[in-house]
Amino acid sequence: MQAPNPLRRGLVEDRAGDACAVVIFGASGDLTRRKLMPALYNLAVSRSLPSGFAVVGVARRAKTNEQFRAEMKDGVGSFSRRKPIDPALWADFERAISYVAGTFEDPKTYADLRAHLEQLDSERGTRKNRLYYLAVPPAEFGVIMKNLKEAGLVASAASSAAGGPWTRVIIEKPFGHDLASARVLNDTVAETFDESQVFRIDHYLGKETVQNLLVFRFANSLFEPLWNREHVDHVQITVAEEIGVEGRGKFYEQTGVTKDIVENHLMQLLCLTAMEPPISLAADAVRDEKVKVLRSLRPMERSLVQDNVVRGQYARGYVKGEEVAAYREEPDVAKDSRIETYVAMRVFVDNWRWGGVPFYVRAGKRLARRVTEIAITFKKVPHGLFRAPDGGISPNVLTMRIQPDEGIALRFTTKEPGQHTILRDVAMDFRYGSAFGSNTPEAYERLLLDAMRGEATLFTRRDEVEEQWAYIDNVFDAWRAEANAPPPLYVAGSWGPDQADDLIARDGRRWRKP
Ligand code: BG6
Repeated sequence: MQAPNPLRRGLVEDRAGDACAVVIFGASGDLTRRKLMPALYNLAVSRSLPSGFAVVGVARRAKTNEQFRAEMKDGVGSFSRRKPIDPALWADFERAISYVAGTFEDPKTYADLRAHLEQLDSERGTRKNRLYYLAVPPAEFGVIMKNLKEAGLVASAASSAAGGPWTRVIIEKPFGHDLASARVLNDTVAETFDESQVFRIDHYLGKETVQNLLVFRFANSLFEPLWNREHVDHVQITVAEEIGVEGRGKFYEQTGVTKDIVENHLMQLLCLTAMEPPISLAADAVRDEKVKVLRSLRPMERSLVQDNVVRGQYARGYVKGEEVAAYREEPDVAKDSRIETYVAMRVFVDNWRWGGVPFYVRAGKRLARRVTEIAITFKKVPHGLFRAPDGGISPNVLTMRIQPDEGIALRFTTKEPGQHTILRDVAMDFRYGSAFGSNTPEAYERLLLDAMRGEATLFTRRDEVEEQWAYIDNVFDAWRAEANAPPPLYVAGSWGPDQADDLIARDGRRWRKP
């Protein structure tokens, strides 16, 4: 009999995670308090945690289990979407939490961890399954992984395929800062883990509305026939933030918005919008289709960057009525910094479906509003039967609002009631909040649960990450060649530099002001 095709497996839903110990390296950091523990607590509330479960924090500072639990309680109290904490549930949940102190370089840390995990296997039924979460800078991945392996703390992929204990590792962005460094990082990871054991988080994929992109496109028959160059005029993808760099000046000086947002979150949104229907929702089936999109992107060669990419940096201005500093006035930012806090690009997906359809994408800090959305503008009607006031009938626009005010809206033209035929644009509006209530799960809940279930569909694969960097590297080559040209400034609280308006206006189009 033929072995079942793994690409034909679907996403396994409605099942708790497999029994396991989640081990968080870097447990004293912000991510653990703000995101990971609140996510695990909320999984406990929704009864999605496995019955054999433990979470172990590993960090340098000595502290008792009780101290660590108290810190985590504080974090969950402040950042959980469900408040206040349920005392009975917390009492039960906190029994699963423990702490191991040690430096990441010291083999003793791993010997201690091993003894501790073996104890948890017998006391809490974690069945030798390990989910390592590296909430640490990428420079520390190598040493942690090497030590885990040497301490006998990594089961092989073959073991898990044969139904034995499994080991998985979750890593966070940034996965490198260009293609070369991403490859080095991926090679380091591959020395210890098989790709099937690696779960790279792009937290946008865990957002409910991002998951809904797949459902919207492939569980409805209405839009997919229109989802192509015959009917779509252009696509706009916006990831706009009101916040500045929020004390992360040092990080931003090394990064900029193109590497922080476009290379990962925005390109993932583009992939999900542009990809072909996968043959199933199995991880590799979906990821294969996303990689095809990335490979179809028209390379942003140096000669194209000038006309297709605009960067900017925020100057002083007002956001929500409050005066805010310029990027160059932020702590740890150079007074003559050339880092971009805004970028807009005209991207082409050169394939059969999208040939000739521009994707205008933009991302920025300190913009007028926080909004992430994908807007598909359809082609205009072929003949103007009605007299519209400005001589043209507006095109239909389908907007998928990722955040906030999550929803989907379709703009279309109607007749205003009255004796004359006056055209008016209206919207058909679906809002998550009013349809389903507003307390939707956080991205990290879904992602941690999926990693515990071994479902990798919402995680990025090595080749995806490398294709993303290959695309972005070209842009940076061109910027480097422009040596010393500072990015144009835009007023904080605006929609970006004028040059970005020119970029799209040259094609006779306008940015949406969402
Ligand atoms: C992170 C970036 O990946 O995403 C931050 O490093 C950014 O700079 C954040 O603010 C945005 O995430 P969200 O979920 O608030 O849209």
